[in-house]
Amino acid sequence: METVFLCPAMRKFVTMNEQPIGLFDSGVGGLTIWAEVVKLLPYEDTVYLADTKNSPYGQKYRDTIIELSVKNTERLLQEECKIIVVACNTATTNAIDYLRANYEIPFIGIEPAIKPAALNSTSKTVGVLATKGTLSSELFHHTATNHAAGITIIEKEGKGLVEMIESGKGHSLETRQHLKELLQPMLDQGIDHLVLGCTHYPFLIPVLREILPAGVTIVDCGQAIARQTRNILESIRGLRGENTARHRIIGNGDLELLTQFAGIYPKEKIVEYEDF
Ligand code: DGL
Repeated sequence: METVFLCPAMRKFVTMNEQPIGLFDSGVGGLTIWAEVVKLLPYEDTVYLADTKNSPYGQKYRDTIIELSVKNTERLLQEECKIIVVACNTATTNAIDYLRANYEIPFIGIEPAIKPAALNSTSKTVGVLATKGTLSSELFHHTATNHAAGITIIEKEGKGLVEMIESGKGHSLETRQHLKELLQPMLDQGIDHLVLGCTHYPFLIPVLREILPAGVTIVDCGQAIARQTRNILESIRGLRGENTARHRIIGNGDLELLTQFAGIYPKEKIVEYEDF
């Protein structure tokens, strides 16, 4: 039997399948995940929250990250979302246990993809670039310890990178120089995989490809997260049938920049401001 919910905003009954997928991040970063989700699930409506006002999350204490994640979750629940993708490594590694313990809705989380990198590494040395909040989290340490036995993991905080991307300077000379300095110690130690442990960093891939030798594979988990979202929706019979999907991107910061980043992806979408 199909589950039916009353949607108060629309004053009509909607089946769970018709409800949107919710996603949130501290800013534009999670759009890299959103893009993969909408590519794989073209009939699904989505609501994306860019909490730019509180960016970066990576420098904040765990309690604050949990508080912000709860705020974003509550806002997405107002939209009657059927699943929430925490499109942020920092929020996932610090808050997903809390969210899962306190809400019934399914959550998809994103963690630095150490496991596939470790499995495929021939030099047995893997680099991880992530925020301070992610690298200092218990979940990250747990994954690093349990899924990378025999592998040397070189962690590096991508200090300042989120701010550079959020201010539209991701491809500037300053960012390129900063990245070179961050990556050199990893290259000196022979990494053959670089795990992007922050959803903002895929925006740096063109610059990274120029800096990194050809033998270093960049590992980004956007497609895997989209597949996981589809699998979970399938398992709860939550996938939507043919539909002209509606995408809303809601930001509480600089809308011009958000619109510019959202514009990288060809899907039709509405970008709106709200002080959530
Ligand atoms: N994009 C986020 C992540 O994946 C958050 C970065 C930040 O706000 O510091 O970690």
